Amino acid sequence: MTTHFAARMDAIQPFLAMEVMERAFAMERDGASVIHLEIGEPDFPPPPAAVAACSRALFAGETRYTDSRGLVELREAIAADTRRRFGVSVDPEQVIVTSGTSAAMLLVFSLLVDSGDEVIIGTPHYPCYPNFVHEVGGCPILVRSRAEDGYRLDPDAVRAAITPRTRAIVVSSPANPTGAIQSAETMRALADLGIPIVSDEIYDGLVYDDAHVTSALEVTDEAFVLDGFSKRYAMTGFRLGYLIAPRSALRPLQVLQQNLFISANRFVQHAGVAALREGAETVAAMREAYSRRRTLLVDGLRKLGFGVPVLPQGAFYVFADARAFGSDSLSLAFELLERARVGTCPGIDFGAAGEGWLRFCSAASEASIAEALERLGEVLPELR
Ligand SMILES: Cc1ncc(COP(=O)(O)O)c(C=O)c1O
Repeated sequence: MTTHFAARMDAIQPFLAMEVMERAFAMERDGASVIHLEIGEPDFPPPPAAVAACSRALFAGETRYTDSRGLVELREAIAADTRRRFGVSVDPEQVIVTSGTSAAMLLVFSLLVDSGDEVIIGTPHYPCYPNFVHEVGGCPILVRSRAEDGYRLDPDAVRAAITPRTRAIVVSSPANPTGAIQSAETMRALADLGIPIVSDEIYDGLVYDDAHVTSALEVTDEAFVLDGFSKRYAMTGFRLGYLIAPRSALRPLQVLQQNLFISANRFVQHAGVAALREGAETVAAMREAYSRRRTLLVDGLRKLGFGVPVLPQGAFYVFADARAFGSDSLSLAFELLERARVGTCPGIDFGAAGEGWLRFCSAASEASIAEALERLGEVLPELR
């Protein structure tokens, strides 16, 4: 029997950060000690209140489905948190709780994109955006942002990419992999283009030097905001996220959620409520640590001969020009993993604009970062 795979699978690329991590796990099983700077995962534990609430809920029998849109308590807490952070009024009815931000992405693109439709994405970009668009039969259109402009997404360049088939503009601020934040003016100009904004705000709250994030909700009522608990609250494995959507989209999104996921995990939703109510201190402590680590990593990488033209303003990554050591970022990342036992993410994961670059995650301890820099220092001179 020949099993036929869907043709769209040809367009869906591997998530290279995961590929490096999975190879690193195999090396660890064979006894190697690897420093993981390849994946975007905080090394901190979640807020203790979130863990306690989750375990309490589990023991209390909170193990069934919830309303497909999430527990009312959590949707209210998310609406209140959004109001507090951005000063915008969000009705809890506009919130749909999802199994991670990734699931929210699938809901939005499934809603907006017909076969052959286009979605504009600023690049370098989070690797999964184009793959989600392909998954629903759409066509990602990449618009380049450049280090020289602080990775600003130029609204004129976006306008030039719009066609009658454009269904959404994806904005990520703070961004993965660059840590760049789009200004209020840029957000407003993008919203004024009259195409729905899909705004990935998962790294908001993790910003440095008093940087300020403008939510898409501040500039338009028609935004689809993707957000979640993975990064801000160090809750990656809980798989909890949410979507804030315009009122006109709520019913079809609810129908999609009912069919694709039924609901997010019930006891995990209780962890989300506790994180929002009691997690602020943990987030503040993490933000301070990430800021110190960012400096350590940027300084160290520059000394080693990497180019870091822009200091990241948010998230927990350093996107570094590695062309002094090789132009093929995938080979370079695997070579550094094998020889230095340091995991990094190849820049090509973030689109052709990232080729020759590497992304280093700064959500590792200062001791791990220092050790990684030392290990890299031993190997890199041989690669020049
Ligand atoms: C920009 C961005 N959006 C979304 C996600 C996925 O997050 P989640 O764990 O909530 O699915 C990530 C994970 O790295 C990310 O970097």
